Amino acid sequence: MKIKFGLIGFGRMGQLYLRELTKSELWEVTYICDTNERVRELARKLSPNSIVTDNQEDIFCDKEILAVGLFALADSRKHQVERAIQTGKHILAEKPISDTLEHEWETVRLIEKTNLISGINLYLRNAWYHQTIKDFIDKGEIGDLAILRICHMTPGLSPGEGHEYEGPAFHDCGMHYVDIARWYAGCDYKTWHAQGVRMWNYKDPWWVQCLGTFLNGVVFDITQGFVYGQLAKDQTHNCYIDVIGTKGIARMTHDFENAVVELRGVSETLCIEQPFGGKNIDILCKLFAESILSGHRNDKLPSIKDSVIASEYAWTFLQNARQNDLPAIGSLETLKEIHERRRNMTNGYGLIKNNTI
Ligand SMILES: NC(=O)c1ccc[n+]([C@@H]2O[C@H](COP(=O)([O-])OP(=O)(O)OC[C@H]3O[C@@H](n4cnc5c(N)ncnc54)[C@H](O)[C@@H]3O)[C@@H](O)[C@H]2O)c1
Repeated sequence: MKIKFGLIGFGRMGQLYLRELTKSELWEVTYICDTNERVRELARKLSPNSIVTDNQEDIFCDKEILAVGLFALADSRKHQVERAIQTGKHILAEKPISDTLEHEWETVRLIEKTNLISGINLYLRNAWYHQTIKDFIDKGEIGDLAILRICHMTPGLSPGEGHEYEGPAFHDCGMHYVDIARWYAGCDYKTWHAQGVRMWNYKDPWWVQCLGTFLNGVVFDITQGFVYGQLAKDQTHNCYIDVIGTKGIARMTHDFENAVVELRGVSETLCIEQPFGGKNIDILCKLFAESILSGHRNDKLPSIKDSVIASEYAWTFLQNARQNDLPAIGSLETLKEIHERRRNMTNGYGLIKNNTI
């Protein structure tokens, strides 16, 4: 049986979902909904068998639709979750689940009252490289887990370009790293100190580094910024995780094409290179489909509650950064140049599809 699916929000992420869903035998993308006419035109081209609409109620009112994908922006998601619950549809969502923490927690409470299956795209939890490292740690190869160092710096989404409801870079993107560090530590954060910089004199920090401890004593530092050479002739990035135990280490770096995991444990040394896997949307959709078809939520399907916990800590760390000097460096003129460049780029880091600068 194919699961009839209504996809809401057909921007950069929505288009990635369509690509993966149509590759699978498990799904039929019956509807695509977007508020932007230009985007709907594209949807008609890319998915001629789908009904393309600007009215999400077409999806919620169709009794044959079993599941919805909420891939628009955070400001519309809480209402969409409410409608999905009222009309009995399983929910696959992008993060963050809503635009304010209060709304996010309300959404969790609503979801916890239903038996509907729900999942969210905390894509790092489904990444082969994190699972490989975690298995290595769990085997005792690095001794006791002591230090987690995570860095994600690219010339990605610039301030003012879109995603305003998702918050500054350390929330919009950084919540993934806040989440995965907590996943490795296996418990909640205890202490933190964050330093940020208001790059290009923008109102919010676009680079933040936070360090601190977890309740079990594991220490962490997380660095996230979309400030890495935005106007460099040839752009690059610096992304890694470095996991240090009392006896060994495990680390990963990637170039968005391939990821390399290096494991140096007490009894083995391994170097594994495999395709990076992007946002792992194929894995997420498979876990979601299996959960719907079996009627039992697969534990590996990332939960909306975990995303809200990560979102809350990311906001907390950002707030902490605001209290620690937060210098401004550069000018808004440079930011204009960055916007101009990204508007004209066809191949860049995290370009949004519905570019509205
Ligand atoms: N999990 C991840 O790694 C990851 C990565 C990127 C983006 N995201 C999240 O995915 C979401 C979408 O991001 P994107 O980069 O695709 O953005 P985008 O701007 O490219 O696309 C958003 C689309 O939603 C449409 N839209 C807006 N409001 C709508 C509404 N009420 N109903 C229907 N359509 C509506 C817009 O017209 C646009 O086409 C964001 O919340 C973002 O945080 C997650």
